[in-house]
Amino acid sequence: MEFLDVVRRRKTTNGPFRPDPVSREHQRLLMEVAGRAPSQLNSQPWRFVIVEERDTIERIARISGDSMTEAMSNGTFFERYKPYFRFSAEEMAEKRSGMLFDKLPAVLRPFTKQVFTPRGQKLMNSFRVPQTLGEENRKLVAGSPLLLGVMLDRAEYRPGELSSFYSVFSMGAAMENVWLTTAELGMGIQFVSFPMEVPGKWAEIEALLEVPDDLELMAVYRLGYLPADQVRPAIDWSSHERRKPSQYVFRGTCASPETGWDESPPVP
Ligand SMILES: Cc1cc2nc3c(=O)[nH]c(=O)nc-3n(C[C@H](O)[C@H](O)[C@H](O)COP(=O)(O)O)c2cc1C
Repeated sequence: MEFLDVVRRRKTTNGPFRPDPVSREHQRLLMEVAGRAPSQLNSQPWRFVIVEERDTIERIARISGDSMTEAMSNGTFFERYKPYFRFSAEEMAEKRSGMLFDKLPAVLRPFTKQVFTPRGQKLMNSFRVPQTLGEENRKLVAGSPLLLGVMLDRAEYRPGELSSFYSVFSMGAAMENVWLTTAELGMGIQFVSFPMEVPGKWAEIEALLEVPDDLELMAVYRLGYLPADQVRPAIDWSSHERRKPSQYVFRGTCASPETGWDESPPVP
């Protein structure tokens, strides 16, 4: 693919992958591009653990599904993230950010707007929606041929210090290289983040991966090759909606938004 096509097509994969293992050549390429990212003083603070062992993947999948169920049923998830959810195409078109929450299980659809209220939470719990979603999440993770753990060197990652910001920034650059390259390889990628939302769950994953004391586990992703038909799951964590340039670009000073590009066709 042309470089700009790759950038424009990069996305988060919400659905299942093909069961085929990720070839060693592709694994090596993904790690090469990660390692080519810029970093503060060339510190290269990232470390990666590639996981293909079925047993480990299934255990992490269970931790992920259980975490999702817990965070969704005790209300912490909706409380933390409600500013990011949109309830209609019109709201999405106006805000042009966040995620469209338009595909609740049928029985709950009339209550979509109440999802973020105590009543909505009770209703969802009574229909066992958190369990259904958690099980869907478990299956997605368990069905992934490869998990990738991303770690930072604690000598660089020292929360509260500037080097911590630099190392996280560098890790983001490394992961963007990986993310873009998945698009080129016909692969998909998705964060496995629910274990971070529930106290104690992340530590279980660190223990499974035997993360040493001098490293901090920052993220876990699932990766695999994409099937021909991609099915949209119950909660869609991917969104192609983007702000208009005038909503995020200023010129000269932050007092003047760049308004000249909003209606322009994409640069070829
Ligand atoms: C720091 C960060 C955290 C994210 N966390 C999650 C996550 O927990 N689960 C998930 O499925 N996607 C996650 N994403 C992906 C975003 O939801 C996604 O990038 C966004 O909705 C735009 O969709 P796109 O990647 O398909 O363009 C995350 C992305 C970033 C950069």
